[in-house]
Amino acid sequence: MSGGSRDATGRPAVTLTSLAAQKAAGEPIVMVTAYDHPSARIADEVGVDIVLVGDSAANVVLGYDSTVPVTVEEMLMLTRAVRRGLQSALLVADLPFGSYEASDEQAVRTAQRFVKDGGADAVKLERGGTSVDRARAVIQAGIPVMGHVGLTPQAATSLGGYRAQGRTADQAERLIQDALDLQEAGCFAVVVEAVPAAVTELLAPLMTCVVIGIGAGGATDGQVLVWHDLLGLSTGHVAKFVQRFADLRTDAIRGLSAYSDAVRHHEFPAPEHTYAIPSTELDALRTRLSSTHG
Ligand code: KIV
Repeated sequence: MSGGSRDATGRPAVTLTSLAAQKAAGEPIVMVTAYDHPSARIADEVGVDIVLVGDSAANVVLGYDSTVPVTVEEMLMLTRAVRRGLQSALLVADLPFGSYEASDEQAVRTAQRFVKDGGADAVKLERGGTSVDRARAVIQAGIPVMGHVGLTPQAATSLGGYRAQGRTADQAERLIQDALDLQEAGCFAVVVEAVPAAVTELLAPLMTCVVIGIGAGGATDGQVLVWHDLLGLSTGHVAKFVQRFADLRTDAIRGLSAYSDAVRHHEFPAPEHTYAIPSTELDALRTRLSSTHG
């Protein structure tokens, strides 16, 4: 875990205490997903507060059509890669679908794997209801938990698809109660996804733990976006709440096309990309080859 250490640049490690202090001071908390070592290095260099190895990896990295199929082993491999790239940001790992819902024991065992084998500082799980009990059990086992309410992609089918939640008074009241239950269970933070801003404005003042929004308006303590969405790497439908802050896919296509053209036109590699051998060694090699291979 990050503990109270400092990274190589002297930036203090982000802790649950520092996040609570940021909330108290009204300083927005920046959270982003990451799934590999170079991305984690960039997030840390920029000074992002929380890095989430989201199960959105299922879609944006592994090519599944939902978050449901991703396995603990796949998520663990990504979490370890991100761990190796982070020095100061708090590392949260998503517990994948099917790895925590069945019992408190299952939830604790899976969360322990993410901390022990994956190097996560905390885990995230989705929904209220029985997930509140699972969150409580994991927290009692000594592992910090981030909750997630609103649009919870692991339950997208029962929510009627990837659509905004809390758009009726009944739905919104239930969602607010889920967030309060997760807080009461001891979660250090709750993600609120795809919820009308006006509902978040009613929810936020009730929350003493950190509230992170994604498509939930500006009344939260911080924001999270998916790496591939915000950097313009994802294809297909992009949610209404995403802002693209870069267009890396276009840059990648441009770069890869230039490489491909250079290879096809014998322009790459150039002499500066090759290694030299002393002429005496080359002469000796030529002599040997001509004697053995004619
Ligand atoms: O999996 C994920 O990326 C997430 C964020 C969108 C919060 O859960």
